[in-house]
Amino acid sequence: DGHIAELVTRLVRDVPDWPTPGVVFKDISPLLADAAAFAAVVTDVARRAREAGATLVAGIEARGFVLAAPAAVAAGAGFLPVRKAGKLPGRTLRRDYALEYGTASVELQPEVVRPGQRVLLVDDVLATGGTAQAACELLTEAGAQLVGLHVLLELSFLGGRGRLGVVPVTTSAVA
Ligand code: PRP
Ligand code: MG
Repeated sequence: DGHIAELVTRLVRDVPDWPTPGVVFKDISPLLADAAAFAAVVTDVARRAREAGATLVAGIEARGFVLAAPAAVAAGAGFLPVRKAGKLPGRTLRRDYALEYGTASVELQPEVVRPGQRVLLVDDVLATGGTAQAACELLTEAGAQLVGLHVLLELSFLGGRGRLGVVPVTTSAVA
């Protein structure tokens, strides 16, 4: 709603030329440090998870974890980590993707997802969409029913939403 959008717009800080020249980094730390704002954002994500009937909330390492894990608890859902590659033991599924700055890979443990389980994917920022696309593909490959992607902030000028196909994308704020 408008209150959450106002919090995100006011408390997510622009850092020009970080981590590379020409990139404007969106820093969620001021929002996380504001007790009332953090609680309001987490409560909003949890409501979205409940309304979507999600029984698992997936977060993308690292900043997605900070939002998805408390939202999962508040929604009465489980939490699923989508991790940067090389961290998870056992059988994993992996996707490589290009970032606005550099390349990266994400992994998840498919055994943690029950077939057809309803999963809401959460991250802080949707920029080029490479990260979210990779995570969506992993969840689908693992047999999840992906009920949506929620991000705090969508950088619409980068067109990331267009890479996510039929996945319903919701946002708290758009820049
Ligand atoms: C940032 C951000 C998103 C992603 C968005 O994560 O937290 O996950 O980039 O970019 P994209 O839409 O262009 O893929 P980053 O990889 O910097 O790592 P972090 O979350 O561990 O800080
Ligand atoms: Mg991230």
